[in-house]
Amino acid sequence: MITRRIGDFEVGAIGLGAMPLSVEGRPDRDRAVATVHAALDAGVTLIDTADSYHWHADEVGHNEELLAGLEGVLIATKGGRGRPGDGSWTVDASPEHLKRACEGSLRRLGVDVIDLYQLHKPDPKVPFSDSLGALAELHAEGKIRAIGLSNVDVDQIRQARELLGPAFVSVQNEFSPRVRTAEPELRLCAELGLAFLPWSPLGGISRSSLDGPSALPEDPALAAFHHAARDLGVSPQRVCLAWLLSLSPTVIPIPGATRPASIRDSAAAAEIGWWSGFDEACGPVWTGGSDHRRVRHPREAGGRDGDRQAG
Ligand SMILES: NC(=O)c1ccc[n+]([C@@H]2O[C@H](COP(=O)([O-])OP(=O)(O)OC[C@H]3O[C@@H](n4cnc5c(N)ncnc54)[C@H](OP(=O)(O)O)[C@@H]3O)[C@@H](O)[C@H]2O)c1
Repeated sequence: MITRRIGDFEVGAIGLGAMPLSVEGRPDRDRAVATVHAALDAGVTLIDTADSYHWHADEVGHNEELLAGLEGVLIATKGGRGRPGDGSWTVDASPEHLKRACEGSLRRLGVDVIDLYQLHKPDPKVPFSDSLGALAELHAEGKIRAIGLSNVDVDQIRQARELLGPAFVSVQNEFSPRVRTAEPELRLCAELGLAFLPWSPLGGISRSSLDGPSALPEDPALAAFHHAARDLGVSPQRVCLAWLLSLSPTVIPIPGATRPASIRDSAAAAEIGWWSGFDEACGPVWTGGSDHRRVRHPREAGGRDGDRQAG
């Protein structure tokens, strides 16, 4: 799989979002483990998790425990949210909570240092600089190698850059064919060389075609992905992920999956590369896009500038 960078780490350009393996509707443990191993076999070397990826109140870290002990993969976890067990999500990004949460993640993952620790969500009750300060302390204490932020805006990214310096390496915001509001953050990440991990990247693309023919969405902007998929002879989900990869060399999508076939199909999106039909079919996001893509794409630029072909 082609690779991209998160700070000093080089990872497969398609990651795995592990959340669906632990929340409501999760598969049994055997299928969850098979899904993770299918991802690794397909060249995935980044898995996104969080201490709050669980279902019932008394199983904090369910998802992290599932991933503990994996080798050759960057486990990116998060702290700052909670799940009381009634289906809701709470936020606590106080320094005390973040430090406690990080200790819990270290213990469950069975490591001395977490490669990438992400603030799950800024807490309106806590000054943002206080949350960042806690992450800086965890970094200075050697408990986390790199810092990521999720659900942040442009001002917060700039503030974090100022306060955290090169330890701050990634942003994880919602971005998909249906939800494109994080375009300013996506652009800023490209400008600053920060990895941008679109969460719920398949939003709007209809349910898996593994269950039968995908229904064509009514929204023409979404239906376009299905038309493009037909032209390319691949799944609309794969087109969606390839389109996301084409937006910037710092984008690393983290599609979720609860079965091996889904993540195998998603991982293959990294092989599509930039396709001249993307702008017409799927809608450009990056206005300076075509030049930018032409420079970066490995088939056109010999693997320079962002993407690299791994063995
Ligand atoms: N930071 C945050 O606040 C935040 C919030 C939400 C999510 N996230 C992260 O983002 C990750 C992804 O989001 P998500 O899981 O909500 O949504 P998603 O990736 O947009 O969609 C996941 C669903 O798409 C299906 N799918 C995946 N690849 C497919 C393929 N190639 N063909 C057909 N169907 C496919 C899966 O089906 P099957 O179940 O049948 O395999 C799964 O149900 C999460 O796992 C989590 O790590 C972060």
